Amino acid sequence: MKNIVILISGRGSNMQAIVAAAQAQEWPARIAAVISNRADAEGLEFAAQHGIPTAVVVSKNYPSRAEFDTALQTQIEQFSPDLVVLAGFLRILTSEFVQHYAGRMINIHPSLLPNFTGLHTHRQALQAGALEHGATVHVVTAELDHGPILDQARVPVLPDDTEDSLASRVLAQEHILYPRVIRQILDGKLRLQK
Ligand code: GRF
Repeated sequence: MKNIVILISGRGSNMQAIVAAAQAQEWPARIAAVISNRADAEGLEFAAQHGIPTAVVVSKNYPSRAEFDTALQTQIEQFSPDLVVLAGFLRILTSEFVQHYAGRMINIHPSLLPNFTGLHTHRQALQAGALEHGATVHVVTAELDHGPILDQARVPVLPDDTEDSLASRVLAQEHILYPRVIRQILDGKLRLQK
């Protein structure tokens, strides 16, 4: 059994989709832990209700990014991760941390990378007049939102879209895309480049 550790900061709907797929499809892996940098992340309750160990490493309690990342890494290591899955984890990570998990850490970003890195991707897509938008699962590397792309999901941008309507159309696809990519990694059909 492979160990998957999921990092969240809030709602955790992608994490929930991954947990549901792992159970329904009987993945050869366990969700070993869900770890948050915020004690009030809504997703923690869902994880606990599903018998998944949870942990919180409160980012604002650490004076520096490096000290937080060291504490986070110590916590993650308790669960011997084969794969670290960032799912709405709203932290910029140090290059040392990223290097430690090189080739075994992935992220989902709500845009068709390389378009619209950073925050407010749905707003960026609307402002740019994009006709198509979506989500990308990529390997995490030191440069934010720039690692090798594993897969993408596309949605149309509709004429009357608002940020919210576009975000929810993308999110519905994220919930299909992210579990599918993880399954392919577990099955050896997708290899993670460093
Ligand atoms: C998702 O849109 C994800 O792509 C982005 O942050 C959002 C997290 O949502 N990184 P949730 O916490 O998984 O519901």
